[in-house]
Amino acid sequence: MGLHGGALPDFPWDSLKPYAEQARSHPDGLVDLSVGTPVDPTPDVVRSALAAAGNWPGYPTTHGTPELRQAVAQWFARRRGVPDVDPAGVLPTVGSKELVALLPALLGLGPGDVVVHPEVAYPTYDVGARLAGATPLPADDVAVWGARDDVRLVWVNSPSNPTGRVLDVPALRAVVDAARRLGAVVASDECYALLAWDAPWSGSGTPSLLDPAVCGGRHEGLLVVHSLSKQSNLAGYRGAFVAGDPGLVSRLLEVRKHAGMIVPGPVQAAMVAALTDDEHVDVQVARYRRRREVLRQAFTGAGLHVEDSPAGLYLWVRGAGPGQDCWATVADLAGLGVLVAPGAFYGPSAARHVRVALTASDESVARAAARLQAA
Ligand SMILES: Cc1ncc(COP(=O)(O)O)c(C=O)c1O
Repeated sequence: MGLHGGALPDFPWDSLKPYAEQARSHPDGLVDLSVGTPVDPTPDVVRSALAAAGNWPGYPTTHGTPELRQAVAQWFARRRGVPDVDPAGVLPTVGSKELVALLPALLGLGPGDVVVHPEVAYPTYDVGARLAGATPLPADDVAVWGARDDVRLVWVNSPSNPTGRVLDVPALRAVVDAARRLGAVVASDECYALLAWDAPWSGSGTPSLLDPAVCGGRHEGLLVVHSLSKQSNLAGYRGAFVAGDPGLVSRLLEVRKHAGMIVPGPVQAAMVAALTDDEHVDVQVARYRRRREVLRQAFTGAGLHVEDSPAGLYLWVRGAGPGQDCWATVADLAGLGVLVAPGAFYGPSAARHVRVALTASDESVARAAARLQAA
């Protein structure tokens, strides 16, 4: 696999630094709603499992322990409406970001191959295509890519980072049908699936690519990427997995064994604990639901417009002024000591939005709301 690092875009977050400094100088301090990094404690059930597995002198298995792969399959059945995940088709990853960035290369894609990803998107889908020397194609509409014979991989992300938009069963099925006609792989990044706020997904999670209603119970050519970072507050552990077509997973496994891309053994044990305990996830989802409601009311009350966002870890917000550019909104909010991410980070058609993360403490969220109310 050739890594084409020279073709990478600038790291966008550096351009937010001046606004972070401005927000930090607010007399009542910074409320950082820019990066979606969890702030609540890692649950005891997970920490105990990590500690109990601390004596691990040998190498862990790249494919994941049988317990972990079984726990993932059972979790899909219990929480994601997918009764038939084959544990052979499960592979733990060192967080999901590395898998997103490496998947095109791991699949052997390169120059001449096209990787489709959402138009307004987490930037790593584009980065992964470039690292492999393949061509990224931002497209939401199947009609844009469904007749191209150079498409090899199609990414979907539901609920979306940054917009929170959800793909329902017919939309996912349309992607699967089109990709199958082309022989392309579909990879579905579902790392926010359990953070579902509005009907009909509230409480049950958003539809999975592997749902029998989407894929007809056939997992060939399909991969789901899922992360425990957000739902279990363990972004620091780097615990995630990919699941689906056992044939594809064995291809990924082959390269990852050679490259030493292994999830540490104690983290694998902690993942089992996280996947078999639903209670801490429900507690965390309820926390985010409360914070989301406080922030939604505060932004709306201050004249900004909350759009999309029926699920996921963010509010997708448009500034108060008609057609206001995202950087103007970032600046206005930095003046209130509130830091948010400009939509421009996520694609040219998002230049009028900002992304507001729900990942701040109750106290910080209340401070942000009070400042917006007083503005
Ligand atoms: C859509 C999406 N996918 C993947 C990731 C990566 O998460 P992690 O590497 O912590 O699993 C993120 C993180 O913000 C994300 O927003």
